[in-house]
Amino acid sequence: MSAPGDAIIGSWSTNAEAWTTAVREGHIASRKAGTDAAIVAAVRDRRPTRALDVGCGEGWLVRALTALGIEAHGSDVSPELVAAARAAGSAHVSVASYADIVADRTCVAGPWDVIVCNFALLDADVVPLLSALGTRLEPDGALVIQTVHPWMARGDAPYEDGWRTETFAAFAVPFPAHMPWYYRTMASWSASIAAAGLRVERFQEPLHPETGLPLSLLLNVTRP
Ligand SMILES: C[S@@+](CC[C@H](N)C(=O)[O-])C[C@H]1O[C@@H](n2cnc3c(N)ncnc32)[C@H](O)[C@@H]1O
Repeated sequence: MSAPGDAIIGSWSTNAEAWTTAVREGHIASRKAGTDAAIVAAVRDRRPTRALDVGCGEGWLVRALTALGIEAHGSDVSPELVAAARAAGSAHVSVASYADIVADRTCVAGPWDVIVCNFALLDADVVPLLSALGTRLEPDGALVIQTVHPWMARGDAPYEDGWRTETFAAFAVPFPAHMPWYYRTMASWSASIAAAGLRVERFQEPLHPETGLPLSLLLNVTRP
């Protein structure tokens, strides 16, 4: 893993309490504006019996899918966030890093009808994880990825891949640690998915209901 990859993981343990508060108290405006509803709808539309939320955080999506009658499991690298998910009632949530999933075929083995990554792919090289998740899918299963919209998240920087820093300054609660994250373009997402031996079945760009601007990029990814 990259040095920024270690820093990403460390930041989620340091920020676990602030993140849990931000999610549960609704401090992330884009989530209320549509990204929460978009990811739930994208999973539900595939009519899964079993779903896995990878990088599940404090577990809101596991709870939302369970409430829809889906057997939903979650995994996350942060023991603090997994503990928060369990304390909120999700029994099937485990501590696993992406490196664990790549290295150990029995980790979150599945097979799953749907695997979700909701704003959880943050490192530079996502190909090994995407490839490993592809092997955990049912033959007609799908990997559903929601991420920041490449055009909206570019900021003032050029439209090219590269490391950025999230300070969480826009959040209503203070976050003790900054987080490095890897910005990638639309073409880079497409190339990473192809390099993992998978294909994008459907691109979606949920829009803000008032501004009409993209809130996120949502990818339905399947085996070829
Ligand atoms: C922005 S949060 C999203 C959490 C959750 N998916 C949600 O929608 O609220 C990113 C999550 O990815 C997890 N994560 C980041 N890097 C990881 C890694 N290498 N292995 C496992 N989980 C990781 C973090 O612990 C964190 O919970």
